[in-house]
Amino acid sequence: MSEEIERREFLKRGWMAGAGLIGVAGAWTTWDILQPGETAGFGGEVRTIPAEAVPDADVVSVPAARAYLTKIDGEVVAISETCPHLGCRVPWCAKSGQFECPCHGSVFNRKGEAREGPTPRAMSLYPVEIVDGLVIVNTGAPVEGEPIGTAETIDEPVKGPSCEEGSH
Ligand code: FES
Repeated sequence: MSEEIERREFLKRGWMAGAGLIGVAGAWTTWDILQPGETAGFGGEVRTIPAEAVPDADVVSVPAARAYLTKIDGEVVAISETCPHLGCRVPWCAKSGQFECPCHGSVFNRKGEAREGPTPRAMSLYPVEIVDGLVIVNTGAPVEGEPIGTAETIDEPVKGPSCEEGSH
């Protein structure tokens, strides 16, 4: 009789221990899933191109990050392609060496600093990191540009005619 009770008690404790382990595993899995991980697309960290492929006096578009890359004083800078005015995509005009927004005419220098137009401020910048030679753009943490009227920090006069001339 007492052997039967011991067996039952043993099985009961075994079941309880099993249920406890399943509960711990479930809680761990839930906690792990809810942790913020590395985001692969726009809105998180985007792997782009090798740092050595980023031009010094020009810009390169990286569509996956919805940004442009350029180098300012040898450092890679990522500029959001979204116009701070009303959100149009701002193309780079190689002829003039400026960003020229086709929507309402805002103009920015190669660093995204505001030159003219209705934009309230410079284009936003994204933090960048170079990992194994690749430029990683953190599109989840844009940094708003300075207000229009703030002095430009690069000395790059307009190179030539605007891409927007005659387009309206
Ligand atoms: Fe670019 Fe208006 S959206 S100037």
